[in-house]
Amino acid sequence: MIPNDQIQAQLPFCLEETDFPELGEKYVGKVRDNYTKGEKRYLISTDKISAFDRGLCTIPFKGQVLTQMAKFWFEETKDIIGNHVLEYPDPQVCVGVQCTPLPIEMVVRGYITGVTTTSAWYNYEKGVRDFCGNMLPEGLKKNQKFDAPILTPSTKAEHGDHDESVSREEILKRTSLTPEQYDFIADASLKLYQRGVEIAAKQGIILVDTKYEFGVTPAGDIVLIDEIHTPDSSRFWFANEYDQRFAAGEEQKKIDKEYLREWLAAAGFRGEGEIPAIPDEVRVETARRYIEAYELITGQQFEAEVGDVTERIKRNLL
Ligand SMILES: Nc1ncnc2c1ncn2[C@@H]1O[C@H](COP(=O)(O)OP(=O)(O)O)[C@@H](O)[C@H]1O
Ligand SMILES: [Mg+2]
Repeated sequence: MIPNDQIQAQLPFCLEETDFPELGEKYVGKVRDNYTKGEKRYLISTDKISAFDRGLCTIPFKGQVLTQMAKFWFEETKDIIGNHVLEYPDPQVCVGVQCTPLPIEMVVRGYITGVTTTSAWYNYEKGVRDFCGNMLPEGLKKNQKFDAPILTPSTKAEHGDHDESVSREEILKRTSLTPEQYDFIADASLKLYQRGVEIAAKQGIILVDTKYEFGVTPAGDIVLIDEIHTPDSSRFWFANEYDQRFAAGEEQKKIDKEYLREWLAAAGFRGEGEIPAIPDEVRVETARRYIEAYELITGQQFEAEVGDVTERIKRNLL
């Protein structure tokens, strides 16, 4: 594990935005700066972090951690379905094949949890029993494991709107997806999740739920795009404490931005109003946890690259 003073030293070099017109047409996503040129899509993970749906600050090495984690999982799952990856010219840049994204996100859930309006637990608590075409039994408790993982596809909302979770039938009614395409990515999603669960379990981690995006390549194949099994797209819990916490009705121990969320909540921030100034120690500790999560989940050591990220990317790409 990288020592704290190295994380500290990286604070002034965090990547907040990029400006590389040479790489093509730019699209600024919530976390990644995307550039497209011909059949290539450059996905540059910034170090920005958001919580409560608000952009907050930057976290040293976060972009690198996410890129490397997705790289690990793309590699571990490519026998299930092909993916968009062409190369990694920089530790925080993935070059993918520019695809036509399919208009839905495939969410797979192994446990009933969550607090947002699209989450399974929120809806179940409100009395919903038919959740996106999945009939849920009575008497489930928060964070309980489903008998079998469920699929809850959601429509991709335009910027600012919220995604909506719906059933297969609704997806086919509302989007251009064919039944064959839907069934193909539904099957792939369940297999990807199963693989994720197995690998994470060996590391003492529960892959709680996750979402996948798929696209059609210029050659006409459906592949996995975007990212896979990162803390931005998935929930992870610690397996060794699951039973005891579940039995006691306590929250699960999470591997993600929970530390930062809790710090913000303690500072009186839950998403509304002015964002409190986030001290460097908190940013360093958040980074440490991201790196720890990477090492824990992948079983590999994180190779930190201290220094100016923008300059490095320029060196590696331009
Ligand atoms: N291979 C690909 N082809 C086309 N679009 C892609 C590909 N991989 C990822 N994307 C899209 O690029 C964007 C990645 O940046 P992100 O910060 O996640 O943006 P967003 O705020 O739209 O989620 C997403 O919109 C995702 O759907
Ligand atoms: Mg995204």
